Amino acid sequence: MLRDAGCKQRVIVHCCTVGAVADEMLKNIKADRPLVMAGSLLHDIGRSVDNGIMHAIVGSEMIGKMGFPAELVEIVKKHTGAGLDEADVEELGLPPGDYMPRTIEEKVVAHADNLVSDNLVVGHRHAVEKLRNKGAFRGADRMESLHWELSKLYGMDLDVISDIIGESPKLKWISR
Ligand SMILES: [Fe+2]
Repeated sequence: MLRDAGCKQRVIVHCCTVGAVADEMLKNIKADRPLVMAGSLLHDIGRSVDNGIMHAIVGSEMIGKMGFPAELVEIVKKHTGAGLDEADVEELGLPPGDYMPRTIEEKVVAHADNLVSDNLVVGHRHAVEKLRNKGAFRGADRMESLHWELSKLYGMDLDVISDIIGESPKLKWISR
C-alpha cells in the first residue's frame, strides 16, 4: 500500500521500523494488535503527498477514503509527536480537531514513531530534545510523560527496545 501510494523506500523502511518497535511494545502492553500493526505500518502514508506537518492529516484522509475503520484513521491523524494540543493546532494553522492520542493503540503508534529516528531505533530523549531545541516545550513534556506512561505498562523503560531489537532491527515485511 505504501509503495502504491508513492512512498519513497526510505519512508517504507521507516514505517516498518516503527512496526518492529510497536511489535516489541505489544509483548507487554495489552492493545488491539492488528490495529496497532496496521497503524504503525501505515502512519506515514501521507508522506507520499506531503512531507510537512500536514502529512498526518493527509494520510488519515487517504486511509479513510480507502475504506479503513475510523480507529485506524484516528491513529494516523494523531501520530505527530505525543499529539498536538489546541495551542499547537492554532500555531501550526491546522484544521480544528482533536490531534491528541487517547486510546492505547493511538498512544503506542505515536510513541513507537518517537522511538524511531529515520530508520534507526533510538532512545526517547532523541525526539524529546529535538522538540526542546525547536522550542516546542509543551510537546517535549508531553512526549516525556507518554514515554513513562507506556514504559510503566511495558514493565521497563521503553528505551531498552533499541537494545532488545537492535537499532536496525530485522524487518518482517521488507528487506532493507
Ligand atoms: Fe509521521
